[in-house]
Amino acid sequence: MNAVNTWRRVLIGASVLALLVAAGSAPVLAQQLGSFCVPALKSADGAQIYAHICQGCHMPGGKGAVGAGHYPALAGDRALSSASFVALTVLNGRRNMPRFARRADAGEFYFALPVLSDAQVAAVTNYVRTHFGNHYRGKITAAEVKALPR
Ligand code: HEC
Repeated sequence: MNAVNTWRRVLIGASVLALLVAAGSAPVLAQQLGSFCVPALKSADGAQIYAHICQGCHMPGGKGAVGAGHYPALAGDRALSSASFVALTVLNGRRNMPRFARRADAGEFYFALPVLSDAQVAAVTNYVRTHFGNHYRGKITAAEVKALPR
């Protein structure tokens, strides 16, 4: 199963959840869905955002995975030398990687997909560039993320 299929399943789960919200059984389900729910992602801490969202694909320690899909290692990844490349990837997605930018046109389908604020995108960008053996200089700010195209 590739990442797109995985996310399709999340989206299907989201629409099922929408129906159950209407039926009044949301709190239990919200707990079960855990990290896929927006309320679980209030954290502004890059490490926590990584653990909640990115790690599922890029693995603990940013070591990546090859199997049903290809999830590039972020450890020792020279592409991370550009903070704006990382932030743009998180905002807009990249091929099989989903986008995480908050979107104005979010339909009901999107409400259970994790979305990240500009500050959260900055925090997780700064985190992956300075962990897993990466020592890239120059932090990106929320204001700089806000200025990126999406
Ligand atoms: C659903 C799986 C998935 C999740 C979740 C995910 N990614 Fe990715 N990511 C990918 C895939 C697949 C690619 C490779 C895209 C491509 O084909 O170029 C990728 C590529 C990247 C790249 C570019 C690496 C390179 O060398 O080109 C960066 C940086 C990155 N991801 C960071 C993150 C961060 C930070 C998060 C958490 C906010 C995250 N990703 C969450 C699947 C995921």
